[in-house]
Amino acid sequence: MNNPCDKFRLDGKTALVTGASSGIGAELARAFAAAGAAVVLAARRRDRLAALENEIHANGGRALSVELDVTSRDALPKVFERIEAEFGTADVIVNNAGIAAPASFLKTTPAGFRATMETNFDAAWYVTQEAARRLVAARKPGSIINIASVLALGSGVGYAAYSASKSALVSLTESLALEFVRYGIRVNAIAPGWFVTEMNRDYFATDAGAEYLQKIPPGRAGRLAELVGPALLLASDAGSYVNGVTLPVDGGHAVALV
Ligand code: NAI
Repeated sequence: MNNPCDKFRLDGKTALVTGASSGIGAELARAFAAAGAAVVLAARRRDRLAALENEIHANGGRALSVELDVTSRDALPKVFERIEAEFGTADVIVNNAGIAAPASFLKTTPAGFRATMETNFDAAWYVTQEAARRLVAARKPGSIINIASVLALGSGVGYAAYSASKSALVSLTESLALEFVRYGIRVNAIAPGWFVTEMNRDYFATDAGAEYLQKIPPGRAGRLAELVGPALLLASDAGSYVNGVTLPVDGGHAVALV
């Protein structure tokens, strides 16, 4: 009897995860490798990537780390060529690299605004363009997963730039889902609620941060492992008819009116 769980496996796939040096990206890279994918770890911190690459190898997985600043558009062709040479065309792309620099709208500097847009939105645009051109040329199906945020679905004071960047990412997800469906390339997003990572660890270590987490509907932050199932669904053939969605993984935070 066929095991329906087998559809969630990623054997034979090559997954590129940007921002894989910490937090959500590192968690998804580990999980995708354990599910059978050859995983490309792309980020700026070479030491962190090398450590994760070694860990994946030690666990019997396949991984390649690539130093990449996702805002360096000109660096992308070389990175993708290297991936093709090592593992074949990348067919699962996780646009995960992101930054948050909360600031009031009135105090947000042009540099702060540009950095947020360039990392959270422009980079996903160009990485996806490079990846999709190669998939189309290779006549290969694929899955693109954009890591958005609950702050794409609503907002909070101080998050104008971040929310705008993530909402734009949701919009791009929907446009590309339609444009790429003819190529068998699905495009979806995940909108995580709060997960304690380097991005927000300092805040959640404060009394105000702990109190905030108690007040949100799930009453706690998410655990990184709780993103794995949703990501595997979108990445794998288990989600072959799921296209153009933004899946909140937030314990119900996004639907709360209070
Ligand atoms: P993190 O700070 O641990 O991870 C972000 C990763 O992106 C890091 O590895 C960082 O080095 C990398 N990165 C940033 N700029 C980069 C650049 N120019 N080039 C290459 N890599 C770059 O934080 P976390 O939480 O794991 O964030 C991952 C994604 O999840 C981000 O897009 C973030 O906006 C999103 N997110 C996180 C939430 C949370 O509560 N932690 C909630 C909703 C969304």
